[in-house]
Amino acid sequence: MTTTNKRILVIGGTGMLGKPVAQQLKADGFNVRILARNIEKAKSMLGEGHEFIKGDYEDADSLKSAMQGCDGVHVNVKGGPSEADFERADHLGVKRIAETAKAVGVGRVTLISAYALSEKKADTPESRSKVRGEAAFKSSGVPYTIFRCTWFMETLPLFVQGKNISLIGHQIHQLHWIAAEDYARMVSQSYQSDEALNKELYIFGPEAFTMGEAMKIYTEIAAPHIKIAPISTKMLSILGALSFNTEWKSMSTLMGHYERWGEDGSPEEANRLLGAPRITLKEWCKRNKITA
Ligand SMILES: NC(=O)c1ccc[n+]([C@@H]2O[C@H](COP(=O)([O-])OP(=O)(O)OC[C@H]3O[C@@H](n4cnc5c(N)ncnc54)[C@H](OP(=O)(O)O)[C@@H]3O)[C@@H](O)[C@H]2O)c1
Repeated sequence: MTTTNKRILVIGGTGMLGKPVAQQLKADGFNVRILARNIEKAKSMLGEGHEFIKGDYEDADSLKSAMQGCDGVHVNVKGGPSEADFERADHLGVKRIAETAKAVGVGRVTLISAYALSEKKADTPESRSKVRGEAAFKSSGVPYTIFRCTWFMETLPLFVQGKNISLIGHQIHQLHWIAAEDYARMVSQSYQSDEALNKELYIFGPEAFTMGEAMKIYTEIAAPHIKIAPISTKMLSILGALSFNTEWKSMSTLMGHYERWGEDGSPEEANRLLGAPRITLKEWCKRNKITA
């Protein structure tokens, strides 16, 4: 697929990981349409040069209108913290989007996903819904690419609370931290040839660090005033239950999943087809310093 005169719909284009994809597709010459629940918010986040269409992925009619005239649909949805909400987004939302794409005649669909999603490793509400969503995506009949991403560097600041960064659980696995900019370039590249079609590609960054090591690098370079504060998943779960904080309970479940399962799959095919990620964690931290 060449970029000229091709239109890609991005669902979740205001999201942390959807926005860089929308921006990269535009920079590479695609016409980019954003499905947004709040157009004013989307315009203020993404600026001029995109097409905006009001809609909701829970509403099949608005999905159908948004997909008219589109050559591709990129899906960046996020569920949680409740089990029903993971199912609503990561399974049923993804399924509805792929089935609508088939009905409308969209040429290809792409989806952000994660590693550790085999039947055996899907041991949380989120991972089970993602497994079902991936299956529905693949069986929709639309040519697809699924990006099974590792941990994004952009996640690190989300663990900061006040003067602490929470290191949740006993995180022993080496993770190839990826920058959203590298991932976005790879997604856009996937739309520029047919080689990535009907594949699940593992998107891993250039270097591996445990979560604790990554937080040490992040705090040393980007946030020297912040201290690493370890907390067990059990303690976070208890605190979540006592304070009726569903986000904390959900986070303890998520981090338990990543205590058990390290990265699986190989990035070799993604790197060969789409160009290997280049941005190192240290480079990313230098560009994303936070002030006290
Ligand atoms: N963080 C990581 O390291 C990592 C690694 C691998 C995979 N992932 C996966 O990446 C995915 C995306 O994460 P993210 O951080 O980009 O999520 P996010 O920032 O929460 O973005 C979600 C997007 O979905 C939109 N949205 C929500 N409900 C909608 C609806 N009913 N109709 C239309 N749009 C709707 C939101 O739009 P509004 O502006 O309207 O809210 C937003 O643009 C998640 O599934 C996550 O599990 C993350």
